[in-house]
Amino acid sequence: MTNAATPSPSAPSDEEVGQAVLDAARYGDVEDLQELTSTYGGNHLGFRGGNGGNTALHFACANGHVDCVAWLIDQGVEGCAANESGNSPLHWAVQNQHEAVVRLLLEKLENVDVLARNAFGKSVLTEGFAGKSQGILKLLLEHPSADEDALMGGEGQGQCQEGSDGGEVLKAGLQSAKEANEASGGGGEATVIHRLVLDRENDPDRVLQIRELAIEHADDPFGKAAADDTTGLGVWPAALVLAQWLVQERKELLDASTIVELGCGCAVPGLAAALHGRPRAVHLTDLNSETLMNARANLAMNRENFLVPETAACVHVSAMDWGDEQSYPPSAVGAVDLVLGSDLVYQKSLAPLLAQVLCRLMRPGGRFLYVAPATGRDGLEDFVKGLSDRAGLFQVSEKEAGPKLLGNPLEGGGMVEGSTGSPQEEEAADSADQMFFLHFNELATQEVVYKLYEYVKQ
Ligand SMILES: C[S@@+](CC[C@H](N)C(=O)[O-])C[C@H]1O[C@@H](n2cnc3c(N)ncnc32)[C@H](O)[C@@H]1O
Repeated sequence: MTNAATPSPSAPSDEEVGQAVLDAARYGDVEDLQELTSTYGGNHLGFRGGNGGNTALHFACANGHVDCVAWLIDQGVEGCAANESGNSPLHWAVQNQHEAVVRLLLEKLENVDVLARNAFGKSVLTEGFAGKSQGILKLLLEHPSADEDALMGGEGQGQCQEGSDGGEVLKAGLQSAKEANEASGGGGEATVIHRLVLDRENDPDRVLQIRELAIEHADDPFGKAAADDTTGLGVWPAALVLAQWLVQERKELLDASTIVELGCGCAVPGLAAALHGRPRAVHLTDLNSETLMNARANLAMNRENFLVPETAACVHVSAMDWGDEQSYPPSAVGAVDLVLGSDLVYQKSLAPLLAQVLCRLMRPGGRFLYVAPATGRDGLEDFVKGLSDRAGLFQVSEKEAGPKLLGNPLEGGGMVEGSTGSPQEEEAADSADQMFFLHFNELATQEVVYKLYEYVKQ
């Protein structure tokens, strides 16, 4: 901070200067702050007031004054200082949804901990989940203090770490996302959490929770580059079919196996494998950063309910670009027992790319299960027919999904026609059927044929 100039005898009290500093920060008046500092010294920049021990940085952050925040940080003010309610300036920036300020704080401040909680037990990340801004949530989730280990182990970093409990915080955050979703009616909104019962007959109480987000740039969701493809923010019907196929008919493939899901999107099949089986390792992979963030949230939402608790430690979400061999998870190369894919080919150029991935990852004898709609996908024919030459895969079967695999896996739904349930059960079934119709229309109307492909590596 700058050195204090010697105040004249008629100088205002420290309290008055401090108050003037807080007001200037509240209104984002950097010039005023500079003048106050050159006249009375930089120590006043750390003044706390405003009923609750707030600093100038708190006020600048709460009101979204980016220039003022930057200037204060450059003067060396304490960036992580919490007020009497335990709220840091970052808490206030997130609560007030000022994305540019959040970005600046995360970039400029050392020792930021997005898991640090205020006196109400809410972390910055929890506030991020409760807010509307996906941009802010993404910034917080990408910060090193929110990495998977910290989230699950409660290991915060930096000066704000005391009292953080990552697992709890994340659960609370996901809960608020869920509540926000429910409050908004749960249907057709930006965020939806589906509760999926994939094996109603044999395991009716096992529920996979999957959050899907609105697909961005709906006019061109595939984007110009592969990394801009936001189609994975939504659950594609093929993912539900693959998950039900896997869990209802091919469960034996899940035990003691290394599994990779390609282009996982919301990760329905990969997480279904972790929820219903005893895999050795599961790699949920995609390329788009928002999709990966959502896949991480989905992993966090389900990991406590995996069939065996040990699975939680061996399921990972990782960035992987089919076109870049360097990005393939090193431990998976040549070692994968089971590759899962749903609706991955929608342009011709993708067929050879995916074949290369399969060739590099699968071990001899490994399986590849793929589900896609039979029509409307450019390059599908080339992909499924070319796997023998391009990747050394032998096609074990190619068949149409039957009514059971096309059925409604939403919790409460799928009541057998004619069966008599209680009025509550019937009401739940009606509402689940409506949701199914709304979100997975192609399956609900059974107008589209879905194909199941199974291959083995020679
Ligand atoms: C149509 S979505 C299907 C998502 C998911 N499998 C499902 O069925 O819900 C295609 C997915 O492939 C991913 N993808 C596209 N190109 C990719 C690439 N080059 N490398 C990795 N993933 C890619 C997209 O990000 C997206 O998540």
